[in-house]
Amino acid sequence: MPIQAANESAMPLIEIRNLTKIYDLGEVQVAALKGVSLDIDEGEFVALIGPSGSGKSTLMNTLGCLDRPTSGSYRLAGEEVAGLGPDALARLRNRRIGFVFQNFNLLSRTTALENVEAPLLYNADCPRRERHKRAAEMLRRVGLGDRLDHRPNQLSGGQQQRVAIARALINRPPILLCDEPTGNLDTRTSREIMAFFRQLNRDDRLTVILVTHDLEVARQADRALVLIDGEILVDTTDLELAARALQRRSIAEEPVESINSSQSAKSP
Ligand SMILES: Nc1ncnc2c1ncn2[C@@H]1O[C@H](COP(=O)(O)OP(=O)(O)OP(=O)(O)O)[C@@H](O)[C@H]1O
Ligand SMILES: [Mg+2]
Repeated sequence: MPIQAANESAMPLIEIRNLTKIYDLGEVQVAALKGVSLDIDEGEFVALIGPSGSGKSTLMNTLGCLDRPTSGSYRLAGEEVAGLGPDALARLRNRRIGFVFQNFNLLSRTTALENVEAPLLYNADCPRRERHKRAAEMLRRVGLGDRLDHRPNQLSGGQQQRVAIARALINRPPILLCDEPTGNLDTRTSREIMAFFRQLNRDDRLTVILVTHDLEVARQADRALVLIDGEILVDTTDLELAARALQRRSIAEEPVESINSSQSAKSP
């Protein structure tokens, strides 16, 4: 038994080798990921940064079993995922992954409580009363115990994102994937949400992987992956190094037209 436990803890939670993703649009093929390899251990807090179009969402969707890679290997908790069909992927996703998106993706005509309960509807072992109880408890954890019956349009942006986080965590997944989770929030709310992710990471050993273009947000992670043009250029625990690499790259890559147009937009 101890030997098995040691092996399990030595194995990375996420193990990716030479992952590629090519979107085939008939005439053109877009290589969104060009051979990405990386390991992420349980309990890590990782920021994924890179210019627009560099493949961040593609990588997140692959990690989250929403999309299948064109080639390469993806082992999630030791299980090879890359060749699985849609049903097997959906089961894995339900069990292991929570998602948080920039635009919250809540059901608009539905209360906070019902939104958070939704993933439990697929869980036959969870009767109605238990669903209510768990969803209400999760909403209390995100500080919305007094907003159970509010619909999304009756909540602030930060509150809506909290509902989305509660929904992402209701099945107790070990991994939380967030694609620009603070992109629609003001600075103060963004800090609150990041502090909450930090707390979940620390107290529950939740593995958090988040895409952001905001370097202040990225700096709160323990490790940064800098993705440029479908490849990981930098993988570091030195967040300042990652920020500098991205800034240098962004300045070098900014097309002359866009610099000109932003200047002309400001001129009278
Ligand atoms: N469904 C798709 N079909 C075809 N091409 C796609 C598709 N999704 C993404 N791409 C292309 O793949 C590349 C990577 O896109 P992706 O959305 O992963 O970038 P991103 O880093 O998330 O960008 P952003 O910061 O703007 O969200 C881009 O060139 C994009 O045009
Ligand atoms: Mg994206």
